[in-house]
Amino acid sequence: MKFFVDTAEVDQIAELNDLGMVDGVTTNPSLIMKSGRDIIEVTKEIAEMVDGPVSAEVVALEADAMIEEGRKLAKIADNIAVKVPLTWAGLKACNVLSNEGNMVNVTLCFSANQALLAAKAGATFISPFIGRLDDINLDGMELISDIRQIYDNYGYDTQILAASIRSVNHAYQAAMIGSDVMTAPPAVIKKMAEHPLTDAGLDAFMKDWAKTGQKIV
Ligand code: G3P
Repeated sequence: MKFFVDTAEVDQIAELNDLGMVDGVTTNPSLIMKSGRDIIEVTKEIAEMVDGPVSAEVVALEADAMIEEGRKLAKIADNIAVKVPLTWAGLKACNVLSNEGNMVNVTLCFSANQALLAAKAGATFISPFIGRLDDINLDGMELISDIRQIYDNYGYDTQILAASIRSVNHAYQAAMIGSDVMTAPPAVIKKMAEHPLTDAGLDAFMKDWAKTGQKIV
């Protein structure tokens, strides 16, 4: 499974990127707002640092304006994926932008039918939002599973990008289902390394090692 980092905080991306953990980055208008940075400047900085796709989201609501914004965002770097919302206008923009050779990430997906339309519109990535479905007592993971089955039934090559990942369990379940990509905040990715038995085992090893009085270097 590819790991995308869901943030526009350059330092946090750099830390994970140095570990080889970053296959791409996703941003959205809220994350740009939180970063306090200019969208063009920060997206360029991220795209230069990371080899994989960097999603930058349009903010227009009409298809023609989305296409214009998408073309501008795509010019920032070769690895930009233009992010458009899953509206009818967004699907039109997806179709035009992907036919022009751009990667397109269709975001704010909350149903399998929406994901089917995005694949038909030529989306490179579909972003189903797991956490926001869980927030309203629906099953976000069931959506990932449904999209996986539908895409596999018909051989669509649109990649499932599990988004709105809030916990390590979301990451685990998305991987078990076969999501192609997950995008998660840096804190969730780092938390995946944690296990209480690892901590307890290491503590015991350290105590025993101290009793040997030895040094390795
Ligand atoms: O990639 C989409 C993601 O940023 C949404 O996450 O936690 O705001 O639902 P969240």
